[in-house]
Amino acid sequence: MKVPAQQGVRQAHPPEADLADPAFWQLPRPARLDAFAALRKLDRPAYFTERPATRRRPAQGFYALVTHADVVRASRLPEVFASAPGVTTPEPARWVRFLFGESMVNMDAPRHTRHRRVVARAFTPRLLAAADEDIRRVAARVVDDMVAQRPGDFVPSVASRMPFEVICNLMGIPERHRAGIADRIDHASENAGVKRSIGARLRDPGRGLRALARMHLMMASLGRERRRRPTDDLISALVRADVDGRGLDARSLGSFFSLLMVAGVETTRNAITHALTLLTENPEQRALLASDFERYADGAVDEVVRHSTPIIQFRRTVRAEYELGGHVFVPGDKVVLYYASANRDASVFTDPDTFDITRSPNPHLGYGGGGPHFCLGSYLARQEIKALFRELLSRPLALRAVGLPDLAGSNFDNRVRALPFAFDPPAP
Ligand code: HEM
Repeated sequence: MKVPAQQGVRQAHPPEADLADPAFWQLPRPARLDAFAALRKLDRPAYFTERPATRRRPAQGFYALVTHADVVRASRLPEVFASAPGVTTPEPARWVRFLFGESMVNMDAPRHTRHRRVVARAFTPRLLAAADEDIRRVAARVVDDMVAQRPGDFVPSVASRMPFEVICNLMGIPERHRAGIADRIDHASENAGVKRSIGARLRDPGRGLRALARMHLMMASLGRERRRRPTDDLISALVRADVDGRGLDARSLGSFFSLLMVAGVETTRNAITHALTLLTENPEQRALLASDFERYADGAVDEVVRHSTPIIQFRRTVRAEYELGGHVFVPGDKVVLYYASANRDASVFTDPDTFDITRSPNPHLGYGGGGPHFCLGSYLARQEIKALFRELLSRPLALRAVGLPDLAGSNFDNRVRALPFAFDPPAP
């Protein structure tokens, strides 16, 4: 392997682009996108210090992969850029992993392959085609309720409810459990990538972990029911699963359950919310979509996911020496794959800041850069977003976002806390 002169030398980042500083993630989005544009111009990945060195341990930090090419390459080389011990920044603490079990996002082959196989079949386009009718029914019900109740915030009433109802139907969660579990999903993920003030932490300590624990208990109780009376839902598939000749233990079942519920709802809800803002800000794109929905819908969903990039980043840990983007990585290095930056890379996307539902090709990395962890629910997410906007745009509602979305300031996902919206009542 060619070893360039830069081996071991850490590229500093521009001062306005300190990705490890929580204050950076509070900046307005355009300022953050400018900072990423500056990082993409560097001749090799910049290094960010997360924790300075102490007498007991060396400094901790990560390299930022910000170009489309680097994110794709790292995603497709899992033997070099591994997902264990964790893909979130910072990684889950060891005691959390012990208590709650390993989630397959944090695993590598061959364990990851075996775990993913347990649920992968349920997410193939062929099997999901069978769910399409149900997804359309959910969309119609969500929009009917919106019209009847005239809520003020698009996030809980429409954007969250759509993916939540669909994943509950696929999992087989009875109606009586749904209200409780919706709150738990919110609480389990509300602090991901967000720096909380000491006051907030003291007011509600451990709320996220309590929510996770309750989801695990719920899985245990639903699992017992399905073992007695199996059906064709995902919970039955989980309790039937055979990994290395053994069933999944309680912790693995719980972590599967919470992963599918949280990943299935949060990402799609943010995509749907950003979609309403983008269609409001770009009325000509909205008119084009409404003019021939079936023709433009797939392109529109891809462009929403590219432009808004619901998941900003995932982390990897280097396992073997490897040169990428002009830097030689060594085992133990941490790298962060910034999908949000790759999706604005002007060497791949013409006018990357423009929202263009006819963009073709659109090789965005909103669902990951390919490789073994590529989003399991990408087809499902597309079905849901399409079904909801088909319903919203086919009715005489003149739906629009009012003002800007309230962003959570997370370094992990492009989460929207609230989005005020308005629509004209349908003609009697
Ligand atoms: C617009 C919506 C969505 C976006 C933007 C999104 C994005 C992502 C991304 C970026 C990854 C990581 C890929 C990688 O590491 O290479 C991922 C993984 C995953 N997603 Fe999604 N996702 C969405 C919807 C969904 C839905 C509806 C589900 C349904 C349950 C889902 C389930 C998963 C799972 C289980 C993984 C982990 C796969 C693995 O580790 O093998 N996602 N998603």
